[in-house]
Amino acid sequence: MRKSLMMTAVLAVTLSQAADLRSAIEVPNASEIIKKDLTGPAKVYKMPAGCITDDADAVARGAYIFHNLNGSKAKGDAPKGLAKKLADGKPKQFGNCVACHNIEKAKGGGNIGPDLSNYHEFFIKTGTRDHQFVYQKIADPRIDNPKTHMTVNLTTGLFTEREICDIASYVVSIKK
Ligand code: HEC
Repeated sequence: MRKSLMMTAVLAVTLSQAADLRSAIEVPNASEIIKKDLTGPAKVYKMPAGCITDDADAVARGAYIFHNLNGSKAKGDAPKGLAKKLADGKPKQFGNCVACHNIEKAKGGGNIGPDLSNYHEFFIKTGTRDHQFVYQKIADPRIDNPKTHMTVNLTTGLFTEREICDIASYVVSIKK
Protein backbone atom coordinates (compact mmCIF):
# COMPACT_ATOMS: atom_id res chain seq x y z
CA MET A 1 0.00 0.00 0.00
CA ARG A 2 2.71 2.43 1.04
CA LYS A 3 4.78 1.38 -1.98
CA SER A 4 1.99 2.08 -4.43
CA LEU A 5 1.39 5.48 -2.85
CA MET A 6 5.05 6.30 -3.36
CA MET A 7 4.87 5.16 -6.98
CA THR A 8 1.91 7.43 -7.52
CA ALA A 9 3.85 10.34 -6.02
CA VAL A 10 6.90 9.66 -8.21
CA LEU A 11 4.71 9.37 -11.27
CA ALA A 12 2.93 12.62 -10.46
CA VAL A 13 6.24 14.45 -10.09
CA THR A 14 7.57 12.96 -13.33
CA LEU A 15 4.44 13.96 -15.23
CA SER A 16 4.47 17.49 -13.91
CA GLN A 17 8.14 17.83 -14.86
CA ALA A 18 7.37 16.55 -18.34
CA ALA A 19 4.62 19.11 -18.67
CA ASP A 20 6.99 21.84 -17.44
CA LEU A 21 9.60 20.87 -20.01
CA ARG A 22 7.13 20.89 -22.86
CA SER A 23 6.10 24.43 -22.12
CA ALA A 24 9.74 25.55 -21.71
CA ILE A 25 11.01 24.14 -25.02
CA GLU A 26 10.13 25.87 -28.25
CA VAL A 27 8.58 23.32 -30.61
CA PRO A 28 9.31 24.27 -34.22
CA ASN A 29 6.67 23.61 -36.86
CA ALA A 30 8.36 20.88 -38.89
CA SER A 31 6.03 21.07 -41.87
CA GLU A 32 6.69 24.81 -42.27
CA ILE A 33 10.45 24.21 -42.20
CA ILE A 34 10.25 21.41 -44.76
CA LYS A 35 8.10 23.57 -47.03
CA LYS A 36 10.65 26.43 -46.90
CA ASP A 37 13.56 24.04 -47.51
CA LEU A 38 11.94 22.56 -50.58
CA THR A 39 10.91 25.82 -52.20
CA GLY A 40 13.79 28.08 -51.26
CA PRO A 41 13.35 31.74 -50.35
CA ALA A 42 10.90 33.96 -52.26
CA LYS A 43 12.47 35.37 -55.43
CA VAL A 44 11.86 38.48 -57.51
CA TYR A 45 11.67 37.82 -61.27
CA LYS A 46 11.75 40.22 -64.18
CA MET A 47 9.50 39.23 -67.03
CA PRO A 48 11.67 38.43 -70.10
CA ALA A 49 11.23 40.44 -73.34
CA GLY A 50 8.32 39.27 -75.50
CA CYS A 51 6.92 37.26 -72.59
CA ILE A 52 3.24 38.16 -72.74
CA THR A 53 1.87 37.56 -76.19
CA ASP A 54 -1.43 37.13 -78.01
CA ASP A 55 0.04 34.26 -80.05
CA ALA A 56 -2.77 31.68 -80.21
CA ASP A 57 -0.48 28.68 -79.50
CA ALA A 58 1.04 30.32 -76.42
CA VAL A 59 -2.40 31.25 -75.05
CA ALA A 60 -3.65 27.69 -75.74
CA ARG A 61 -0.69 26.20 -73.85
CA GLY A 62 -1.36 28.56 -70.94
CA ALA A 63 -5.03 27.58 -70.91
CA TYR A 64 -4.16 23.87 -70.96
CA ILE A 65 -1.77 24.26 -68.02
CA PHE A 66 -4.32 26.40 -66.15
CA HIS A 67 -7.24 23.97 -66.49
CA ASN A 68 -5.44 20.63 -66.05
CA LEU A 69 -3.83 18.79 -63.17
CA ASN A 70 -1.36 16.61 -65.08
CA GLY A 71 -0.65 14.81 -68.33
CA SER A 72 -2.41 11.58 -67.42
CA LYS A 73 -5.65 13.31 -66.33
CA ALA A 74 -5.72 15.97 -69.06
CA LYS A 75 -8.29 15.35 -71.80
CA GLY A 76 -7.71 15.96 -75.51
CA ASP A 77 -4.45 16.59 -77.30
CA ALA A 78 -1.99 18.99 -75.72
CA PRO A 79 -1.62 22.21 -77.75
CA LYS A 80 1.36 22.72 -80.08
CA GLY A 81 4.60 23.03 -78.11
CA LEU A 82 3.35 21.35 -74.93
CA ALA A 83 3.80 17.66 -74.11
CA LYS A 84 1.67 15.58 -71.74
CA LYS A 85 4.67 13.46 -70.79
CA LEU A 86 8.19 14.23 -69.66
CA ALA A 87 11.26 12.81 -71.40
CA ASP A 88 11.26 9.87 -68.97
CA GLY A 89 7.65 8.99 -69.90
CA LYS A 90 6.15 10.22 -66.60
CA PRO A 91 3.09 12.49 -66.87
CA LYS A 92 3.92 16.19 -66.82
CA GLN A 93 2.54 18.18 -63.90
CA PHE A 94 0.27 21.05 -64.97
CA GLY A 95 -0.96 24.05 -62.98
CA ASN A 96 -4.46 23.03 -61.88
CA CYS A 97 -5.09 26.72 -61.22
CA VAL A 98 -8.84 25.99 -61.40
CA ALA A 99 -8.54 24.25 -58.03
CA CYS A 100 -8.40 27.75 -56.51
CA HIS A 101 -9.50 30.16 -59.24
CA ASN A 102 -12.60 30.55 -61.33
CA ILE A 103 -12.06 31.78 -64.92
CA GLU A 104 -13.95 31.65 -68.23
CA LYS A 105 -15.02 28.06 -69.09
CA ALA A 106 -13.72 26.65 -65.79
CA LYS A 107 -15.43 23.47 -64.68
CA GLY A 108 -15.99 23.78 -60.94
CA GLY A 109 -13.46 26.58 -60.45
CA GLY A 110 -12.38 26.99 -56.82
CA ASN A 111 -12.77 30.11 -54.70
CA ILE A 112 -9.67 30.02 -52.50
CA GLY A 113 -8.08 32.54 -54.87
CA PRO A 114 -9.81 35.49 -56.59
CA ASP A 115 -12.01 34.96 -59.64
CA LEU A 116 -9.82 35.62 -62.69
CA SER A 117 -12.74 35.96 -65.14
CA ASN A 118 -12.63 39.16 -67.22
CA TYR A 119 -9.11 39.74 -65.93
CA HIS A 120 -8.17 41.86 -68.94
CA GLU A 121 -11.25 44.05 -68.57
CA PHE A 122 -11.21 44.44 -64.80
CA PHE A 123 -7.49 44.43 -63.93
CA ILE A 124 -5.32 45.21 -66.96
CA LYS A 125 -7.45 47.81 -68.75
CA THR A 126 -8.12 49.66 -65.50
CA GLY A 127 -4.37 49.72 -64.71
CA THR A 128 -4.95 47.87 -61.40
CA ARG A 129 -2.42 45.22 -62.51
CA ASP A 130 0.24 45.09 -65.19
CA HIS A 131 1.88 42.18 -67.03
CA GLN A 132 4.93 42.20 -64.75
CA PHE A 133 2.67 41.79 -61.69
CA VAL A 134 0.90 38.79 -63.25
CA TYR A 135 4.23 37.22 -64.26
CA GLN A 136 5.69 37.62 -60.76
CA LYS A 137 2.48 36.41 -59.11
CA ILE A 138 2.55 33.15 -61.07
CA ALA A 139 6.35 32.73 -60.86
CA ASP A 140 6.57 33.32 -57.09
CA PRO A 141 3.43 34.70 -55.40
CA ARG A 142 5.23 35.13 -52.07
CA ILE A 143 6.75 38.47 -53.20
CA ASP A 144 3.25 39.97 -53.34
CA ASN A 145 2.01 38.08 -50.27
CA PRO A 146 4.51 36.26 -48.01
CA LYS A 147 1.67 34.28 -46.42
CA THR A 148 0.04 33.25 -49.70
CA HIS A 149 -1.57 29.84 -50.16
CA MET A 150 -0.88 29.96 -53.88
CA THR A 151 1.57 27.48 -55.42
CA VAL A 152 5.11 28.67 -56.27
CA ASN A 153 5.74 27.87 -59.92
CA LEU A 154 9.14 29.16 -61.07
CA THR A 155 11.30 29.03 -57.91
CA THR A 156 10.22 25.40 -57.49
CA GLY A 157 11.14 24.59 -61.10
CA LEU A 158 7.61 23.31 -61.68
CA PHE A 159 7.47 25.39 -64.87
CA THR A 160 10.00 27.09 -67.13
CA GLU A 161 10.18 30.82 -67.74
CA ARG A 162 8.48 30.31 -71.13
CA GLU A 163 5.66 28.29 -69.54
CA ILE A 164 5.07 31.02 -66.95
CA CYS A 165 4.81 33.46 -69.90
CA ASP A 166 2.28 31.14 -71.60
CA ILE A 167 0.15 30.94 -68.43
CA ALA A 168 0.36 34.71 -67.87
CA SER A 169 -0.55 35.31 -71.56
CA TYR A 170 -3.65 33.18 -71.04
CA VAL A 171 -4.68 34.98 -67.82
CA VAL A 172 -4.45 38.45 -69.40
CA SER A 173 -5.91 37.40 -72.79
CA ILE A 174 -9.34 38.59 -73.93
CA LYS A 175 -11.58 35.49 -73.80
CA LYS A 176 -14.58 34.77 -75.94
C1 HEC B 1 -3.89 26.71 -53.60
C2 HEC B 1 -4.65 27.77 -54.21
C3 HEC B 1 -4.11 28.44 -55.45
C4 HEC B 1 -3.64 27.86 -56.60
C5 HEC B 1 -3.49 26.39 -56.92
C6 HEC B 1 -3.35 28.94 -57.50
N1 HEC B 1 -3.63 30.14 -56.91
FE1 HEC B 1 -3.47 31.98 -57.78
N2 HEC B 1 -4.00 32.87 -56.03
C7 HEC B 1 -4.38 32.20 -54.89
C8 HEC B 1 -4.69 33.18 -53.85
C9 HEC B 1 -5.14 32.86 -52.44
C10 HEC B 1 -4.49 34.45 -54.42
C11 HEC B 1 -4.71 35.82 -53.74
C12 HEC B 1 -3.43 36.49 -53.41
C13 HEC B 1 -2.49 35.65 -52.58
O1 HEC B 1 -2.86 35.25 -51.46
O2 HEC B 1 -1.42 35.35 -53.06
C14 HEC B 1 -4.06 34.21 -55.80
C15 HEC B 1 -3.77 35.23 -56.70
C16 HEC B 1 -3.54 35.05 -58.05
C17 HEC B 1 -3.37 36.10 -59.03
C18 HEC B 1 -3.43 37.60 -58.75
C19 HEC B 1 -4.82 38.15 -58.94
C20 HEC B 1 -4.80 39.64 -58.70
O3 HEC B 1 -4.60 40.40 -59.67
O4 HEC B 1 -4.92 40.05 -57.55
C21 HEC B 1 -3.14 35.49 -60.23
C22 HEC B 1 -2.93 36.18 -61.57
C23 HEC B 1 -3.14 34.06 -60.00
N3 HEC B 1 -3.39 33.83 -58.67
C24 HEC B 1 -2.91 33.11 -60.98
C25 HEC B 1 -2.78 31.74 -60.72
C26 HEC B 1 -2.38 30.77 -61.71
C27 HEC B 1 -2.08 31.09 -63.16
C28 HEC B 1 -2.32 29.56 -61.08
C29 HEC B 1 -1.89 28.24 -61.63
C30 HEC B 1 -0.55 28.16 -62.15
C31 HEC B 1 -2.74 29.77 -59.70
N4 HEC B 1 -2.99 31.10 -59.52
C32 HEC B 1 -2.85 28.77 -58.77
C33 HEC B 1 -4.47 30.84 -54.73
C34 HEC B 1 -4.08 29.88 -55.65
